[in-house]
Amino acid sequence: MEMDKLVALCKRRGFLFQSSDIYGGIQGFWDYGPLGVELKRNVREAWWRDMVLGHNELVVPPGSPAPYEMVGLDCSIIMHPQVWKCSGHYDLFHDYMVDCRESKKRYRYDQLSGRWAVYREQRVFVTSSLSGDEANAEIGQRALKFFGLRSKQADEVTFEGPQTCLTEVENFGEVLGPDAKTLGTLTAPREFNLMFKTIVGALGSEEDAAFLRPETAQGIFVNFKNVLDSTRVRVPVGIAQIGKSFRNEITPRNFTFRSREFEQMEIELFCKPDESPQWYKYWRDRRFQWYMDLGLAGERLRLRDHDADELSHYSCGTADIEYAFPFLADGEFGELEGIAHRGDFDLRSHMEGKLVKDENDQLIVELDEKGKPRHRGSGKDLSYYDDLTKERFIPHVIEPSAGADRATLAFLCEAYREDEQPDEKGNMQSRTYMALHPRLAPVKAAVFPLVKKDGLPEIAQEIYTDLKRRVNTFYDEKGAVGRRYRRQDEIGTPYCITVDHQTTQDGTVTIRHRDSLDQWRVPKEEVLGEIEGRVM
Ligand code: GAP
Repeated sequence: MEMDKLVALCKRRGFLFQSSDIYGGIQGFWDYGPLGVELKRNVREAWWRDMVLGHNELVVPPGSPAPYEMVGLDCSIIMHPQVWKCSGHYDLFHDYMVDCRESKKRYRYDQLSGRWAVYREQRVFVTSSLSGDEANAEIGQRALKFFGLRSKQADEVTFEGPQTCLTEVENFGEVLGPDAKTLGTLTAPREFNLMFKTIVGALGSEEDAAFLRPETAQGIFVNFKNVLDSTRVRVPVGIAQIGKSFRNEITPRNFTFRSREFEQMEIELFCKPDESPQWYKYWRDRRFQWYMDLGLAGERLRLRDHDADELSHYSCGTADIEYAFPFLADGEFGELEGIAHRGDFDLRSHMEGKLVKDENDQLIVELDEKGKPRHRGSGKDLSYYDDLTKERFIPHVIEPSAGADRATLAFLCEAYREDEQPDEKGNMQSRTYMALHPRLAPVKAAVFPLVKKDGLPEIAQEIYTDLKRRVNTFYDEKGAVGRRYRRQDEIGTPYCITVDHQTTQDGTVTIRHRDSLDQWRVPKEEVLGEIEGRVM
């Protein structure tokens, strides 16, 4: 599937728009249109239903060590600045970037790749901000241009080795930036904190600086005690949250994949330390299965365990659920969700102060030059007392952390299909349809009267009114019925119900399935039950 086609469909049919489109857009921000908002809401609701509301704490889920409870939270986006100091985001949540003095553009240091091009003794590292084959093609063109050569002289330039990252290059004087004409215009890499800063209150001083949360997880950690004190839940317990997060990404790109404002769906599962490896495995498998159940079942979905050197500062084990998005080079995958074993890092940090690993790999409070905690914790006791076993411990945490926008994008990419179908006259017509899982489809059913007369619209409107109360339904009486079907196929409506002249005789209507194109008749009174049974 070509990504351009999906992007065009998303705009044409109202799934996604560039934010502030009429002003030329703002990079890294997106608006969901009337269909997109329903699709993303369905993704969130499927997650909340399957992970939180539908969870049965009376049984031991297969593969898990014990029954557990699940509750939800909805925390504020702006939190006490100390939260980010203790979580590590204040000191550690940064990327390196390089600026180009010539083009005035900024790039992520680890995302610029290039190749060494040699022509008559001159060796230049030609970069591209694209990836894979597209980058190779661009590098070839740019090298020719830089050396002042024509296409027919391409053989005179030799390339040394494969594409490598800019991080491998020592001398920036030999680098041709992705949008530059002259050499050596890239600055040395500089750290850039990804948190959006804002000012709380009217004084506007630096002391009032706060941050928009870069993850929803911290709201859960700092409320752990509140949840235990206000409910009857016991460890093991999962606390779930869906909400917006903000990261000032240096190079937002690939449609909504890397945005500056996005939504996360996170669970923190608090458990006994010795049970945590089993819980980690349980969530890793369970979350993978969730994507498969909702339609990402092919080889484009994979589960990948992190190597030890990839692990975050807090993690003892992490696996990513990844999807081969069509905008990535062949063989590349993008992260949909990370499942991390965070140990007791977060609860301890919020108790004692920001932690670091010592030379023996043990977590200790980081001290400043005066021997005081570099970032002080809350001082509150966040340990848990198990009154059944009479044990006190700081729970370990397993965190399945998903992106609602990335999941939505993956479902859209996977659903996009093209085929050919005969029209009413038997002529083959190309058809684009979105094979979205019925639970995710923004519109569940469309109701059409075959013609706008003979009492058919009245019957169709009655069925529509009935359905609309329970599932999102669309009514359409304009144009040829084949065209009406195709318009629904393109937005992924799984079922179309047509009222025809037979309806006036025997009271039955046709239901047509989007993917198989199967059609069958049911009494009109049974349409609601039939559709509900298939889309819920
Ligand atoms: N609490 C852990 C955490 O935030 P993460 O891997 O940084 O982990 C979790 O983020 C998920 O959030 C990612 O797997 C991805 O789906 C989503 N996400 C992260 N950054 C994103 C961005 N810039 N744009 C869209 N989604 C993003």
